Amino acid sequence: MKEKTNHVNVKEMNFDQLFKQISPEEISDNVFTLAGKDFFAITAGKEDHYNSMIGSGGGLAVLFKKPTTWCILRADRYTLEMILKEQTYTLSYFPNEYKEQMLFWGSKSGRHSKKMKEVELISVQTPSGDMSFKEARLIIECKLTQITTPNPDDFYTQEAKEYINEAYKEENDYRKYVFGEITHVWVKK
Ligand SMILES: Cc1cc2nc3c(=O)[nH]c(=O)nc-3n(C[C@H](O)[C@H](O)[C@H](O)COP(=O)(O)O)c2cc1C
Repeated sequence: MKEKTNHVNVKEMNFDQLFKQISPEEISDNVFTLAGKDFFAITAGKEDHYNSMIGSGGGLAVLFKKPTTWCILRADRYTLEMILKEQTYTLSYFPNEYKEQMLFWGSKSGRHSKKMKEVELISVQTPSGDMSFKEARLIIECKLTQITTPNPDDFYTQEAKEYINEAYKEENDYRKYVFGEITHVWVKK
């Protein structure tokens, strides 16, 4: 019988009880909704120390023949520092009911706060040791493959030029394009 994973019993369940693995090709969400309308948690670190931020934009793609995600991270994000250190990270998507709680990760940096301890969502370790949350409906685990700093000369429309010039006002504002090969995809059972 299918187990019901509501907020009441989610706490008691372990990763295997909550999630099943699917292939990247089996992700049934619309890619533009995932990247453009939903926002997601980007989490790097291990159980003893991890950090999440909210991301939006970027996307899912194929890079060098590998299923890949890409995110756009401002250079000063603590999560980016953690991704560089760990070389792996997760993108976690949540049902709407958790939006407010997850938005908290976008409200302040983990570099100067203990924000991961303040949120109610329950952390869980994947079998590979990466971190996500029991309330997530979709978890994409990634292995860092590339961080690119886009060159302003490579932007061609007025809108794109304005975006990148605004983003390049200070070094901390630089946008890094972070590419990660998808190693595992998990969905709620
Ligand atoms: C809806 C939403 C979307 C966001 N998208 C991004 C994003 O794509 N890239 C980024 O660098 N910051 C984004 N942010 C801001 C970061 O989540 C925020 O600055 C966060 O506190 C950074 O945390 P950290 O320094 O602990 O990594 C977003 C914030 C919100 C609320």
